[in-house]
Amino acid sequence: MSRDRLIVALDVPAPSDALDLADQLGDAAGFYKMGMQLMSAGGYMGLAEELARRGHKVFADLKLFDVPATVAAAVRGLRDRGIEFLTVHGNQAIMEAAANNKGARMKILAVTALTSLDRGDLDDLGFDCEIGELVLSRARRALEAGCDGVIASGRELPALRQALGRRLLVVTPGIRPIDNDETHDQKRVVTPAAAIAKGADHIVVGRPINAAPDPREAALKIQGEISRGLRMRLRRSAPN
Ligand code: C5P
Repeated sequence: MSRDRLIVALDVPAPSDALDLADQLGDAAGFYKMGMQLMSAGGYMGLAEELARRGHKVFADLKLFDVPATVAAAVRGLRDRGIEFLTVHGNQAIMEAAANNKGARMKILAVTALTSLDRGDLDDLGFDCEIGELVLSRARRALEAGCDGVIASGRELPALRQALGRRLLVVTPGIRPIDNDETHDQKRVVTPAAAIAKGADHIVVGRPINAAPDPREAALKIQGEISRGLRMRLRRSAPN
């Protein structure tokens, strides 16, 4: 469903705030990402199950990173709980452990490089390569490991699609609508229409919606941008 290309990040303090935001958005969104802020609030799994019970899709953005046996056990505990997407870090053995234990419904997405990182941050982390190279190499490994997709910024989308076609789902955070020049901590941002036009399957949007004066209006505008991005994509792929 085109509406579910938008994933709203529930970066709010408590499960009750998350349910209020979902209520406020109504039919403007149907796919919700639960991240670390909610994890630390208590009631994480109960909220995931409640969102699923209300007919929403749930993305558990837990960015699992641990020894493979622990990741495998965590993934087994999370599957069959109404979760559609789960994130793990892009280390080979971790990705394999997750992919081999994901069950029938849940999809595993590998984090390539956080959209808040730039070249200087990679130097800090000891990576002696360009961000684009790192993202592509992580994505190839994610595919080999049996993951369903990757998290990648809009900047890396064209190279990812060119190298790997549509064999991986690509979910893109770091989205900033054109009328919102506040990038917060994100360094590699693109607009909703550009991300979709360049081939993102889903975009993740947090603060431009949850910190907007009218979150529903902000989400509806982004849905309009997604439709525009899909039309741009169709035009690009149409024979001349
Ligand atoms: O508020 P904003 O739109 O920047 O939120 C983006 C969301 O996507 C946050 O919840 C953040 O944790 C998540 N995310 C990200 N970059 C990644 C993976 C996840 O920004 N590589």
